[in-house]
Amino acid sequence: MSDRTLYRACFMHTPASPFVRPDALHTETDGGVLVQDGTILASGDYPVIRAGAPDAEVHDLRGPDSQPGVLLPGFVDTHIHYPQVRVLGGLGMRLLEWLDRNTLPEEAKFADAAYARAVAGEFLSGLASHGTTTALVFGSHFASGMDEFFALAQEAGLRIVAGQVVSDRMLRPELHTTPERAYSEGRALIRRWHGRGRLLYAVTPRFSLSASEGVLDACAALLHETPGARFTTHINENVQETQTVRELFPDARDYLDTYEQAGLLGRRSVLAHNVHPLERELESMASHACTAAHCPCSNSALGSGFFPLGRHLAAGVHVSLGTDVGGGTGFGLLKEGLQAYFMQGLMPGGHPLSPAHLLYLSTLAGAEALDLQATTGDFSAGKAFDAVYLRPPPGTPLEAVMTHAEGPERVLAALFTLGSATDVRQVWVGGDRVYASRNDAE
Ligand code: GUN
Ligand code: ZN
Repeated sequence: MSDRTLYRACFMHTPASPFVRPDALHTETDGGVLVQDGTILASGDYPVIRAGAPDAEVHDLRGPDSQPGVLLPGFVDTHIHYPQVRVLGGLGMRLLEWLDRNTLPEEAKFADAAYARAVAGEFLSGLASHGTTTALVFGSHFASGMDEFFALAQEAGLRIVAGQVVSDRMLRPELHTTPERAYSEGRALIRRWHGRGRLLYAVTPRFSLSASEGVLDACAALLHETPGARFTTHINENVQETQTVRELFPDARDYLDTYEQAGLLGRRSVLAHNVHPLERELESMASHACTAAHCPCSNSALGSGFFPLGRHLAAGVHVSLGTDVGGGTGFGLLKEGLQAYFMQGLMPGGHPLSPAHLLYLSTLAGAEALDLQATTGDFSAGKAFDAVYLRPPPGTPLEAVMTHAEGPERVLAALFTLGSATDVRQVWVGGDRVYASRNDAE
């Protein structure tokens, strides 16, 4: 019996950035992805791959009825909050009011480990059922809430980069820590979870508004003593927020400088939002090789503004996508890509986005943001088999469009426009199936 599996389906991926290479979208209408021990050995035209692996066990994803379906690399969400599942849909507020009234009271409940565990389960199911295989996750302010989360994330089998959120002012007293506690709890969590299975630790001050220099220094200490740790936080999301940060850090050149002076910026730093950057900040982000996690649904729902994608690209700043649950509108990276497309189309000087850009932003760009591009993000040989198979239910508009589409770009555009969790049939991480819709569960 062969230990190699050959997945047969139409597949699409972007092994390069379409922002750099206009021909980056690669489609195999009758494609094969050959997998051994969770790693891709080869991918390409099915008959060619089959000829080279006649003993492989074939998983024909097309099914006996050959309905239209597409295999994509698993989605990568580079900004999402696990304790905010139950506050999704809190419309009608801007960021600071939304935090005070909608979100922070909910996050205070995570002092209760049983509550944290219940929401962690909801959150991880939300990721897998939407085809998200890798996520950079803002955690709870409570270390016990992080233990519950990491334990369930390990069971779920997803690639999770996450950390305890730390703050010592301007939230609610029960969410505040001290620099000493931020350091000691972070260190203990790193020892327990960083590098375990598919889990990695991200040092996570909430934002400079709620983190003193002492807390930022504690974060820097954790980051520098932990090989492989990532850094994430928020920046320049809302005009009122940026003004407050300026008052809190009178000696900083700008918002970015509050993180820069603490030594928190580097290749593995992901800064969420950045809707209102100054030119110096963009130049400095580029020189530190940081990523801006663009969250267009959240920027729309909270009225934060239009993300200046063109300015980021011109400055050489890497950009990925985040759903920002619960400021955003859900777990779907297809919807997030569509909203990015809408907003760039609507804003003056917006950067036009093609279906290939949307696929790249929701897959490989996220892997690159996390410095996981050697592991995930596309179907190149040597990467893990992290994948989502999308096949619309019979009789749906998406099925009709896909059946009659003139070419792969049309299919991809239809997936971003009409696709949702309803169309996610199976999801794999490292070759392990982590989700199957009811019809596909065996
Ligand atoms: N800035 C600080 N905390 C948050 C949060 O929870 N969500 C968003 N969107 N922005 C933030
Ligand atoms: Zn956020």
